[in-house]
Amino acid sequence: MEENKKDTNNRTSFNKKTSKEQVLDILIENTSRHISGETISQQLGISRASIWKHINSLKKEGFEIESKSGIGYILTGKTDDSLTSYEIKRGLETNFIGQNIEYFKSIDSTNIFAKSIALKSDEGSVVISDEQVSGKGRTGREWISKRDEGVYFSIILKPNIPIMRASFLTQVAGAAMVSSLKKMGVESLIKWPNDIIINGKKVAGILTEMSAEIDRISYIVVGIGINLYNENFDKEIESKASSLKKEGYIIDKKEFLQTFFSEFENLYKKFLDGENKSTLSILREKSAVLNKYVYIIDGNQKIKVYAKNIDENGNLLAEKENGNIETIFTGEISIRGLESYI
Ligand code: BTN
Repeated sequence: MEENKKDTNNRTSFNKKTSKEQVLDILIENTSRHISGETISQQLGISRASIWKHINSLKKEGFEIESKSGIGYILTGKTDDSLTSYEIKRGLETNFIGQNIEYFKSIDSTNIFAKSIALKSDEGSVVISDEQVSGKGRTGREWISKRDEGVYFSIILKPNIPIMRASFLTQVAGAAMVSSLKKMGVESLIKWPNDIIINGKKVAGILTEMSAEIDRISYIVVGIGINLYNENFDKEIESKASSLKKEGYIIDKKEFLQTFFSEFENLYKKFLDGENKSTLSILREKSAVLNKYVYIIDGNQKIKVYAKNIDENGNLLAEKENGNIETIFTGEISIRGLESYI
């Protein structure tokens, strides 16, 4: 039985592991010999019937478990080598981000699924898929999400904050992305407001969607796609898109997710406490646009500005050619470099 408790912010804090995960842990620790249902039951303090139920459920999820009557169970392998929520959760150091995972081999869009379960899900629940057949990008574009190329996931959040502050969450995710990549030895920058850039090309994007009543946020879904192993890109985007592999970095999917969840939780908790400072310092220090002339593209309009700063709410302060400073709010706008993508 999962024993989740509410903390003082009414946020659920999870016991690190469900009993099914604990059964799996025991099987993983005992791959050289059978382990009896009785021993597992004593170790976990749950009934043998529950163990049997968990074993069956694990088998359905692709774990190959041999059961020998009178001897016990042994984990012999997995029916495929895709990542599972168990492997991600093992070694995950967060309190709530990623502690509930819905893992798919294929899905239309993790954002669409996350929105469909958001109301009944705990804060920090994550939807991950190996591929998306209708991956969504910003401004109605498609996000190409092929199997074995990237990681596609969405985080469900239920912050008790004024609606005005919600758009900053995209930037919290961007900052968390850059700092987790840094932890893994990868230097990246943020093209304001939320594209992750390596060597001038986009490797990851963030799509944040919100459902709110007039004065209260019901939920926010932060969807992230990162190109890890792509070798080729379609002609139309190859000058501006890349992958970590193409830029010389081989990053493990599971390690990336675990590191990202920790970094995101860290910055998100500060954000909930009303502290934007930590995210802002990453956004400013790792900006691909600050102190540069760039184009701001808003629909058919394209204006040249000097990107001066990012204000404390995450808006871009842009100096126009007449010297006026304009505050650019995140939204349906894009930024481009004068000569190249950025
Ligand atoms: C962008 O245009 O830069 C945003 C791309 C966001 C893609 C991610 S992949 C996971 C999640 N599910 C989606 O359908 N989109 C987001």
